[in-house]
Amino acid sequence: MPEAALHVGSGKVRELYALDDERLLLVASDRISTFDVVLPTEIPDKGRVLTGLSAFWFSRTRGICPNHLLALGDNGRSTECRRLEMLPIECVVRGYLAGSGWKDYRATGAVCGHRLPAGLDESAQLPEPIFTPATKATTGHDENIDREQALALMDSNLFDEAERLSIELYRFAAEYARERGIVIADTKFEFGVDAGGRLVLADEALTPDSSRFWPADEYRAGAGQPSFDKQFVRDYCEALGWDKTSPGPELPADVVAGTRARYIEAFERLTGLSFGDYLADPSVVLR
Ligand SMILES: Nc1ncnc2c1ncn2[C@@H]1O[C@H](COP(=O)(O)OP(=O)(O)OP(=O)(O)O)[C@@H](O)[C@H]1O
Ligand SMILES: [Mg+2]
Repeated sequence: MPEAALHVGSGKVRELYALDDERLLLVASDRISTFDVVLPTEIPDKGRVLTGLSAFWFSRTRGICPNHLLALGDNGRSTECRRLEMLPIECVVRGYLAGSGWKDYRATGAVCGHRLPAGLDESAQLPEPIFTPATKATTGHDENIDREQALALMDSNLFDEAERLSIELYRFAAEYARERGIVIADTKFEFGVDAGGRLVLADEALTPDSSRFWPADEYRAGAGQPSFDKQFVRDYCEALGWDKTSPGPELPADVVAGTRARYIEAFERLTGLSFGDYLADPSVVLR
């Protein structure tokens, strides 16, 4: 890393460095987390896939909202970005019923205060995408919250604007991905506020780590769907009978290879580029 850059944080996947008061360097590692636990085994190139895909989406969604991207590193895994005051919520949009959305719906008929039609199946497409924010837990799992709970944490105008932008970003990306054989069942955005008080899309966007990607040709409501990426890892961990607390299990070579292949396939399907071309020149995703 640049000698002058100060290490300011470490997430489950990314290392953060301050370049100066206005700029951060986000470096995406090859770490993989499942059930919120970082596993001891890495997936080679995963950080490059996440970085390249996020940059691809940033460059295609500028018409919807500004984003934090300033430059992509030659190594394909670092992003120079604007340093923002991050919102205290995760901006989740769901187009389909899965994960905690399905769990909440089954228990209460609603998700984050959105009452939904009765009788929906697991993985069913919703009549309209819904905004289902979550708290940003520093430890443990994020918790779904409704508008009321979110307004205890932040300004209502910013909340409404984050909701509007999140839904618009999701609609755009879901339609685009569907034509390339991928259902984006749900996704999580993170926004920050710039010095002028404007919302800016930050973090990673519309990647397999921040979204549920399902292969469209296998989609069938009424059961859980195979996910595009972490399914190998989840299935392997479940079969071991691991209790989902740290430390997680080491992954064998075939699970690593299968997972890497799926991440790269998601990248190639969505961008229409070969991953090799991205490695040779990361700026191909910006064109
Ligand atoms: N432009 C930005 N300015 C300030 N902070 C940012 C910006 N973009 C992203 N971040 C923050 O950087 C961190 C990214 O690291 P990482 O994704 O590893 O964290 P994590 O959220 O703990 O992991 P996970 O995504 O697995 O939940 C997040 O805390 C995110 O909110
Ligand atoms: Mg993150």
